[in-house]
Amino acid sequence: MSLPPHFLDELRDRVTVSSVIGRKLKLERKGREFLSLCPFHNDSKPSLSIVDDKGFYHCFACGAHGDVFKFLMENEGLKFMEAVEQVAALAGMEVPKASPEEQQRAERRRSLQEVVDLACRWYERQLHTSAGEAGLRYLRDRGLTDETLKTFRLGWAPDDRKALQRAMKAEGVETDILVEAGLVKRYDARDGDGERAGETVDYMRGRVLFPITDRRGKVIAFGGRVLGDGQPKYLNSPDTPLFHKGRVLYGLAQAREAAHKSGELLVAEGYMDVIALAQAGFPAVAPLGTALTEDQIAELWRLTPEPILCFDGDTAGQRAARRACDRALPLLKPGHSLRFITLPKGQDPDDLIKRESRKAVRDLIGTAIGLAEFLWASEYVSNPTDTPERRAAFFKRMRDLVREVADQTVQTAYRDDVEARIDALRRPKDSGQRGGFGRGSDREANRGGRPGGRFGDRTRGGRWAPPPPEPVGSRTARARVEAVLPRRQQQVILATFVHHPGLLDELGEVLATLALNDPFLDKLRRQILEINAEDPGLDADGLRDHLKTLGYSETVDGLLSDDALQHAGFARKEAAHIDARQGLAELLGRFATPLLREQLLDAQREYGQTFSDASWRRMLSLQSTLQAIISASALEDAG
Ligand code: UTP
Ligand code: MN
Repeated sequence: MSLPPHFLDELRDRVTVSSVIGRKLKLERKGREFLSLCPFHNDSKPSLSIVDDKGFYHCFACGAHGDVFKFLMENEGLKFMEAVEQVAALAGMEVPKASPEEQQRAERRRSLQEVVDLACRWYERQLHTSAGEAGLRYLRDRGLTDETLKTFRLGWAPDDRKALQRAMKAEGVETDILVEAGLVKRYDARDGDGERAGETVDYMRGRVLFPITDRRGKVIAFGGRVLGDGQPKYLNSPDTPLFHKGRVLYGLAQAREAAHKSGELLVAEGYMDVIALAQAGFPAVAPLGTALTEDQIAELWRLTPEPILCFDGDTAGQRAARRACDRALPLLKPGHSLRFITLPKGQDPDDLIKRESRKAVRDLIGTAIGLAEFLWASEYVSNPTDTPERRAAFFKRMRDLVREVADQTVQTAYRDDVEARIDALRRPKDSGQRGGFGRGSDREANRGGRPGGRFGDRTRGGRWAPPPPEPVGSRTARARVEAVLPRRQQQVILATFVHHPGLLDELGEVLATLALNDPFLDKLRRQILEINAEDPGLDADGLRDHLKTLGYSETVDGLLSDDALQHAGFARKEAAHIDARQGLAELLGRFATPLLREQLLDAQREYGQTFSDASWRRMLSLQSTLQAIISASALEDAG
């Protein structure tokens, strides 16, 4: 019997040689290959090389050579069809039985496809007639070159209920087959009032057409776009024996070669994005108006191990990205994943290329983040982590997600990754000096901060250093705190720090996030932070002298006078360190906690949109600041 064309190719694509040989022999990874003792001769050191990319094994000693099927035949003595059966079972596919009906169906599909291709050629010609003038102008206005029109075989469906039917009739194609191919709609009794029952109309009318092909470039369906603002904007052919929407990726045939060569494949949301990207030199594909399916992810991976999904930075885009991420999670396998890039809000790749340039796309690709990173960020921004219980819930959620990865090797790698991130979150500073968290002893364990060292840490020589200049945080939140923090309290805060500079270690960060509405006090606040960053060991007298040399003598004297600190004994120089700490934490807690929480939410949102190092650092720093306040003011309760 004969198998359908490409069936064996498909099996070879789906089932790696190493996975089949690995069931029988012990494999050892060596770069992109595996080595094993050769079963075809008496091997003493591993000379069988297995190359999954190429789909074969080769023995350097005895010359044995072949693919999955040959291995099963030679090593396990199977007949060819038995080997095919076995590999198909591994791939979860059925070996087609070439029954007469089946052969008939294959025949039918072939003729359906020929009809669709015939229609496609006719539609293409229409674009260059007077009927298609508006369509051609539309496509040119959108920046498409003649070459692009040809590559994607763009066409025009005249605004006429019968135009295609007439043209096809002239070619001797019956209406029935046009209906079966999804090119013509036949009304049945259920449509409308039943009067139209039996009537046939062209499916696509008054639209520019985007032929949809299978992976080899054979046209199987169409997408059609209205020229103006009509609805629906895009219309796809109905599902037919040739076309199953969830299995096809628009642009795959055109992207195939370039993507395979460059290893880079973008996944956009729409027809025009694919075409604009391709025209700018970026191989791209798109699902057809739906979320990515498992089939489509598998299809992407056949081309390249880490396709890059482009999403709009708005909420809908982020939700779509997350759906793709969830879909892919259980399917991940070693070396295969998805990457994500976020476009500026409200823009698609087509807009981006038009408004900016191809370089803008290149730069964006440079910001692509991996699935693990995306998943973490996406969960992090939607789960508050400001109390121990909430943090615990977040950690649990991440660990549950890790278990969704079916492949055990990948799951283990994900677990390591998540645990490292959790670790970094639990001990955000590597100073180990922070109250409440990771005091002293685990200083070493904290070194390195985040996994991969992607995020530099902000501590210098174990001391706290000022955060990046101006947090991007919400100004409204800031303004509110300024309004509720009376000048006297602002003085007390500064005085406590000046009298007890040791507190800068632990609570300096809170000082950095406050903005004082008195310009003198605020300048002094920044000055204190700067001095401390330059010279972290200064004691109270040293700090005071330093401030005086900068011309603050009067402000400082006024600020620190007993008079000013009448109701705040803890702020005085002679107060015990522990009282100073307690009083300050309470004061800061009262005024700064709501602000910090809002800023934290803000930072989380920003991180969720930009994934930038700066927003991540800001988030961690706000988090540890909050923790510092909470743990310092909780000291009393604790004992
Ligand atoms: P968009 O509305 O984002 O369109 O839909 P777009 O691709 O940017 O289109 P232009 O630039 O205005 O021409 C994205 C994709 O969703 C599907 C299509 O596949 C479209 O490319 N879609 C959209 C539909 O299937 N039907 C619709 O009515 C709209
Ligand atoms: Mn668009």
